[in-house]
Amino acid sequence: MVSKDFHTLTVAEVVPETDEARSIRFAVPPELADLYRFRAGQHLTMRTFIDGEEVRRNYSLCTAPSDGDLMVTVKQIAGGAFSNWVARELKPGDALDVMPPHGSFTVDFDAAQARHYVGFAGGSGITPIMSLIRTALGTERQSRFTLFYGNRDSNSIIFLEQLAALKDRYLGRFELFHFLSDEEGDVDLLNGMLDRSTCDAAIAAFVPDAAEVDAWFICGPGPMMDAAEAALVERGVAHDRIHIERFTAGRPSAALAAEMAQLQQQASGLQMSVTIDGRTRKVAFDGTNILDSARAGGLPAPFACKAGVCATCRARVTAGEVSMAARYGLTDEEIAAGYVLTCQSVPKGEGVAVDYDA
Ligand code: FES
Repeated sequence: MVSKDFHTLTVAEVVPETDEARSIRFAVPPELADLYRFRAGQHLTMRTFIDGEEVRRNYSLCTAPSDGDLMVTVKQIAGGAFSNWVARELKPGDALDVMPPHGSFTVDFDAAQARHYVGFAGGSGITPIMSLIRTALGTERQSRFTLFYGNRDSNSIIFLEQLAALKDRYLGRFELFHFLSDEEGDVDLLNGMLDRSTCDAAIAAFVPDAAEVDAWFICGPGPMMDAAEAALVERGVAHDRIHIERFTAGRPSAALAAEMAQLQQQASGLQMSVTIDGRTRKVAFDGTNILDSARAGGLPAPFACKAGVCATCRARVTAGEVSMAARYGLTDEEIAAGYVLTCQSVPKGEGVAVDYDA
């Protein structure tokens, strides 16, 4: 069972990465060390209060588990309450509420394997991929990693120097291609955004054996992720080799929104059984979603994005059936095993039971 309780950690260091991005390293006390062990590519849910309002956000870990550092990278975005608060206020010695690491944007690394991994990263989407690169190259001595990394210009490239250092360190095992939209270089292919035609051209030029690649990792702006995924699917890359990490959700279609609204109305007042922290309670569905209904019933159900992306609200359906709108944060295996994102889920009848501890 993965603990989803917040613990207060001390900020050990705030590292400027670019003008807009900074990494936060947390000090983990020995008694919490086991709880905060993570897998490459996972993320942390953090909580603070800004102007009296609770704000929760997920940020990916940029370090490798073997580094011994718990460190996330936060890029400042216009109007972003949490990222601007970090930029303005957060300093070493401050305390922050942090949930133990979670997320499934990863694979099982194995020192005996000789694999080829490829990443498509855009902007701050490099963060979990940085953790995966460090882990893949550090753990699997015969594996290699190819990275396609899109940014505006060279000043906005997060981890520019660390990536160059990894290239030197893992000579012949790490290939790195920077794509810049607002800065022109000598190689035509590398000028411009990672849109569909550039993804196609990059794969054709640098990874002609796309279907043989063991795992593809994609993280960045929505259009870039869609372009990279479509390029891979068209080349016959198996679905289970494509790993996608979304930071934000697109808007649901009008048809889906209407369907969910109808289901919410039909389900209003239904009794559900909710298990969390070893206790099971009955709560009534309040017409929103299972997460908010559980919280309205006084249960400490965990959440962060409430948009179907982060999977913090994941629970297993142990009885009955539910409908789920967005499901970005879950893998096909998790869905097959009965997991749902409760912030996106509505019961389809009486007798639904969900277990947050499963
Ligand atoms: S709270 Fe993020 S997926 Fe539900």
